[in-house]
Amino acid sequence: MYICTIIVTRSIMKEIHEFSIIARRQHGERYFSLVLRHGGTMQPVAPGQFVEVLVEGEPGVMLRRPISVHDVDAEAGTLSLLIQVVGKGTQRLSELKVGDRLNLVYPLGHGFSSDLRPPTSALLVGGGAGIAPLLHLAKCLKASGVRCTILLGGRTADLIPVRDEFTPYGDLCLATDDGSLGHKGLVIEHPAFSAPYDIIYTCGPTPMMKAVARSAAQRGIRCEVSLENMMACGVGACLCCVTDTDQGHRCVCKDGPVFDITNMKKWYND
Ligand SMILES: Cc1cc2nc3c(=O)[nH]c(=O)nc-3n(C[C@H](O)[C@H](O)[C@H](O)COP(=O)(O)OP(=O)(O)OC[C@H]3O[C@@H](n4cnc5c(N)ncnc54)[C@H](O)[C@@H]3O)c2cc1C
Ligand code: FES
Repeated sequence: MYICTIIVTRSIMKEIHEFSIIARRQHGERYFSLVLRHGGTMQPVAPGQFVEVLVEGEPGVMLRRPISVHDVDAEAGTLSLLIQVVGKGTQRLSELKVGDRLNLVYPLGHGFSSDLRPPTSALLVGGGAGIAPLLHLAKCLKASGVRCTILLGGRTADLIPVRDEFTPYGDLCLATDDGSLGHKGLVIEHPAFSAPYDIIYTCGPTPMMKAVARSAAQRGIRCEVSLENMMACGVGACLCCVTDTDQGHRCVCKDGPVFDITNMKKWYND
């Protein structure tokens, strides 16, 4: 316990940063986004990396909350978060206003491979709050000349937030369970899903990601999944976020959250 506390404290002390909120937008009832500016020089953030947010003013929330980096503007020194309200922590964050400060530990985790070169074609599959890390990824891929198809899904149109932000970075395809937007059905049933790609990236509900991974494996397509296991320390010390891989247990916070499916057969076949 003592050693664990030292590891967490040391890891976190190095990385704590104060940001101020410079913009806030509401997206339907459940989602909101925050644009944050760093007081000094912002550290580089790879697509798929995440931050651990300190939730202040809510006594029921002790642990920081992991949130993916949605967008980065290195020139402006800003980063954005896209957050779905699901409980006390995210509810408290949704009450923050422009001018408030936010305390982050960042950048954390191992992100998506985004150093691809043309003529690579990529499919990005997102569902629910899993859409969040895909915008920064799509921007990086587009900047490298990779052709992107971006396939986003949700139960209803309202639950696919910020979809318009993706249009400059690839062909945008949508799927909703109720048919209120785009293809009626699951993302894996969308015609764009079965086209050939060099790589598939996915983030969203676990059953969706497992189905995407199984299909990619069957088709021999390289695939990376971004897991959203519950976390506590966020830096590999408490082991509460472990996932079972073909190579044994791995910490999602430190070894992931992004994993290549090559060694994830146990996970996606479970
Ligand atoms: C690496 C990573 C990146 C993430 N990125 C984002 C993001 O960009 N945007 C976003 O909105 N959310 C993201 N999440 C999920 C987010 O961390 C949780 O929704 C948040 O911690 C919930 O806090 P809360 O206090 O509001 O809810 P709690 O009161 O802690 O929980 C409310 C409900 O949500 C469930 N829940 C909490 N955390 C998770 C989780 N990780 N997975 C599944 N169910 C959970 C709980 O079981 C409970 O039923 C991410 C999670 C991880 C691990
Ligand atoms: S959250 Fe503590 S080890 Fe991953």
